[in-house]
Amino acid sequence: MTFSPELEAKFAKMIANYPPGRQKGALIPMLLYAQDEVGAVTDEVIDEVSRRLNVPRLEIEEVLGYYTMLAREPRGKYHLQICTNVSCMLTGGEELFEHACRKLGIGNRQKTPDGQFSLEEVECLGACSWAPAMQVNYDFHYQMTPEKLDRLIESLRKLQ
Ligand code: FES
Repeated sequence: MTFSPELEAKFAKMIANYPPGRQKGALIPMLLYAQDEVGAVTDEVIDEVSRRLNVPRLEIEEVLGYYTMLAREPRGKYHLQICTNVSCMLTGGEELFEHACRKLGIGNRQKTPDGQFSLEEVECLGACSWAPAMQVNYDFHYQMTPEKLDRLIESLRKLQ
């Protein structure tokens, strides 16, 4: 399997940054970049990364089981992650998540039929001081309310 020339160059540089025998330090960034390009961490991606870093496939599967930002199946074009951990829970995170479910007509880790949105309830996003927090792809949104979420979703729909 090969990736785009840009990603191949990035991978080569990334792997070269680690001394021999420690190149598996590039595992998570490689999986994230591959996911961004391919759409998911597919079997093919796992095999390729396993081969390039000399990391057993099982070890990669373990990493995938731990890190929720890595997905085996393609997500929506806009992946909404809503935090319901303590700070966010105390400031309306659970209600925000439930509102998102109703608004999009999907549940946790599901995707809208048109493939535009996916939704995920997540642990702390590291933005507790600005709770409730959420993320759309790599963009953070703070001090969210159901009304702000509605506006955000509508603005994303207009981008389609
Ligand atoms: S608890 Fe939600 S961002 Fe930390």
